[in-house]
Amino acid sequence: MNDKRILILDDNNVTRDVIKRNLSTSGYQLYTAGNFDLAKEILHEIKPELVITDLKMPDISGLDVITFITEHFKNTEIIVVTGYPTIDSAVDAVKLGADDYITKPFTDVELASAVKKALAKQANKQEFAREIETGYGEKFGMIGNSDKMQEVFRTIKKASEINSTVLITGESGTGKELVARANHYSGFRAAAPFVPINCGAIPETLLESELFGYVKGAFTGAYTTREGFFQSANRGTIFLDEISETSIMMQIKLLRVIQEKEVYMVGSNQPHKVDIRIIVASNKDLYELVELNKFREDLFYRLNVLTINIPPLRERGTDILILANHFAHKYADEFNKTVPTFSDEVLGIFSNYNWPGNVRELENLVHRLVIMNECGKIRKADLPDFMKSKISSLSDIKRTLREVEVEHIKNVLEYTGNNKSKAAKILHIDRKTLNNKLNPDN
Ligand SMILES: Nc1ncnc2c1ncn2[C@@H]1O[C@H](COP(=O)(O)OP(=O)(O)OP(=O)(O)O)[C@@H](O)[C@H]1O
Ligand SMILES: [Mg+2]
Repeated sequence: MNDKRILILDDNNVTRDVIKRNLSTSGYQLYTAGNFDLAKEILHEIKPELVITDLKMPDISGLDVITFITEHFKNTEIIVVTGYPTIDSAVDAVKLGADDYITKPFTDVELASAVKKALAKQANKQEFAREIETGYGEKFGMIGNSDKMQEVFRTIKKASEINSTVLITGESGTGKELVARANHYSGFRAAAPFVPINCGAIPETLLESELFGYVKGAFTGAYTTREGFFQSANRGTIFLDEISETSIMMQIKLLRVIQEKEVYMVGSNQPHKVDIRIIVASNKDLYELVELNKFREDLFYRLNVLTINIPPLRERGTDILILANHFAHKYADEFNKTVPTFSDEVLGIFSNYNWPGNVRELENLVHRLVIMNECGKIRKADLPDFMKSKISSLSDIKRTLREVEVEHIKNVLEYTGNNKSKAAKILHIDRKTLNNKLNPDN
């Protein structure tokens, strides 16, 4: 049983019937309308998941139908049926918010696959909207209740509604790839491929042929023509990670792809149209690189249309603790162990530590702690030494040298198990000086 509701709007009753007949075996609930007035009534009454509409009708243009639906029924997907020899108007329709188009004459397989894709996307979108409302981005494995992460989720939502290039910035391990995936899977390209490429990991000489493909004979070893990532990701999203690692020559080529929406295979001067969403990420400050002439300014401005800045973990407040618990559950389940709890002292350290490796560092740490844990409780002693004594809170800045010195001595003493001789040795002072520093009034 399929409970998805689909409205078919077409002034031509033959087309309406063809579509209805083709879809009827899939068990959808199908409604038909021959004019916009009736369509509106049905829309209000049943709020369908999908509308399949003609572009050219006597009482209204299909483009106006799209505008109406995207304004009033945000959860409804739209497929446009077009009979024109050119696809220009279909492209306009997609720009206005239609999710897909099929051209007449279409086969029942084409229709069925477009409907399936649109409904999958609709389900995805609704799920994502729910997650954003509850503030808990679990679906994409993303957790964040802090204002800064909520802002990230809102921007992802905004980005999924438009088709522009997205630039994701953030320190290492903040979740750039997760955010890129969330962008893809919450948008209308969800049913098409998401292709991640780490630009820093592919040698410069290979990157171009990997991205754009090559034709037979383009270089020694090019025995056959092969498509690149851009062609295989067609209609989907390509995620160019570590974009700062590309050469200036490559940056010029990428700029052209973004502007012209076409690629040239290596060894060919024939352009290939690609319909692709480009998402890029960088953990370096691209603007700084522009100033240093290491990144093309024109590409930077092309990429910087919609930027998602992922905050470092240390700025996410209680998200740190929520994430720690989340990973404790995750790894306890994985290793079939009881879920450990963290002592207050540990939680305090987690909150103040500066997490240079961000979420990845926290995840790896909790992973290790869960494996090592026997008693169900994680205490300060279980933490790595550098965390126990690390000075990482911002309020440290306001302390006097004397306070810092005493704390450092105490940390070293703790590290040596209160062995003053060892501590004095580490500190390059003698025991007497150490005692004096700890008790200056004696
Ligand atoms: N908000 C989050 N909730 C849950 N897990 C997260 C979150 N952010 C990141 N992670 C996890 O942290 C790890 C690092 O995330 P990701 O690979 O997306 O980071 P990145 O910014 O791309 O890192 P790098 O700069 O090293 O490439 C992954 O295992 C990811 O699942
Ligand atoms: Mg990454």
